Amino acid sequence: MVFRDILELIGHTPMIEVKSFDLGVSRLFLKLENMNPTGSIKDRIGLSMIEAAENQGKLQKGCTLIEATAGNTGMGLALVAARKGYRLLLVIPDKMSQEKVSCLKAMGAEIIMTRSDVEKGHPEYYQDYALRLSREIPGAFYIDQFNNPANPLAHETGTAPEIWEQMGGQIDAISVGVGSAGTIRGLTDFFKRTHPEIEFILADPAGSILADFVNLGSFASAGSWRVEGIGEDFVPSQADFSLVKKAYSITDTEAFLIVRDLLRDEGILAGSSTGVLVAAAIRYAREQEEPRNIVTFVCDSGNKYLSKVFNDHWMFEQGLLDREETGDLRDLIARKHSSRDVITISPDDTLAVAYSRMKMYDISQLPVYDKETVRGIIDESDILLALEGLDSGRFDDRVADHMSTDLDVLDPSDSLESLVAVLKKGYTAIVMDGAQFYGIVTRIDVFNYLKRKRDA
Ligand SMILES: Cc1ncc(COP(=O)(O)O)c(C=O)c1O
Repeated sequence: MVFRDILELIGHTPMIEVKSFDLGVSRLFLKLENMNPTGSIKDRIGLSMIEAAENQGKLQKGCTLIEATAGNTGMGLALVAARKGYRLLLVIPDKMSQEKVSCLKAMGAEIIMTRSDVEKGHPEYYQDYALRLSREIPGAFYIDQFNNPANPLAHETGTAPEIWEQMGGQIDAISVGVGSAGTIRGLTDFFKRTHPEIEFILADPAGSILADFVNLGSFASAGSWRVEGIGEDFVPSQADFSLVKKAYSITDTEAFLIVRDLLRDEGILAGSSTGVLVAAAIRYAREQEEPRNIVTFVCDSGNKYLSKVFNDHWMFEQGLLDREETGDLRDLIARKHSSRDVITISPDDTLAVAYSRMKMYDISQLPVYDKETVRGIIDESDILLALEGLDSGRFDDRVADHMSTDLDVLDPSDSLESLVAVLKKGYTAIVMDGAQFYGIVTRIDVFNYLKRKRDA
């Protein structure tokens, strides 16, 4: 079959059964929303919200669509807006990753960056800003996924009947997360009307207020969580929890480890929120005495999180991945030589190689490693000194000619105070035991170590 437009590829996503988790007597099925064109469930609402506005005569050719998001909804809207010839303005808080911003721009969206340190009601809060712009720009249309009925409608008329059909009606429970609440509302609207016996499971990141609201009817104060796309510090106006049997509060650690298991054991590259949805489904499954068919979603692709969930260093720095502790300075080393994780350079490499390696790994120094030991260290100031005459030919010089050989070597058993003394001089500490090299420790490693201890 040949498709005529990328928009035809939105929805009709596949369903797969996963078998590597301990589910007691139940079975778990995942609807692969990561297979939508921009890699998330939000393509569905990108299309439905724009087409609903078209059908209501609210959009003129070339008019401006406005939304406040840098997440998956922004991508879905950017795809549909570009195909249909609308201008798209996205107002986003300035903490969003550069990668996301670059991708949205490449898709043709215009980005307005605003402050992320202000709350609702402040004129620079991203949603208030977007609303104001939509009033100021003639003919502009504010998409407003949190209050747009075409958001749940996409799930009521698309996602829900697809699930019913794919499962041949053999569904007992559905695990869902809540962001704008479009998914839960749309699925509930469909199943309440057609099969109200299906139980909903609310999968909520620990720190979000929704799980307590559903289980206890009360509000705890909101915390923070690293999973993206779901969890709220308020109850979205579109939410309908009437079919929810139980809510589960899932920690970042549990969610992130499940996402890694999914990739390793099932070959499914899922985003962080999928870990929350699957974790809740697993907990529910284990509580059942009768066999149940449980459906949940891979809401977005893990491609969007390669530098986070699938990066051991990030996971460790965030305290999400445990490592065996030795009780000495080796515990502060982020990249261990024993696991071949230290980025090093050889004395015979050129300064150009040293510089590109620093750039690639976003680091400012490299241990110079040769014949099983550390011979020196080269950092940005050494390269700057080498280039002092502004002679770019010096990039071809050998690292050995410009590295520092006066090393600040510490034994693993040395004190934290002696480490701090080295770092205070502006140097990087090398942890070695005789000729045995373990790794280097920078100021950031100390900060991360202390932060992990505080959060433990
Ligand atoms: C990444 C992501 N975005 C959005 C959603 C659903 O959000 P909404 O409530 O906005 O439909 C989910 C649901 O699990 C999700 O994982």
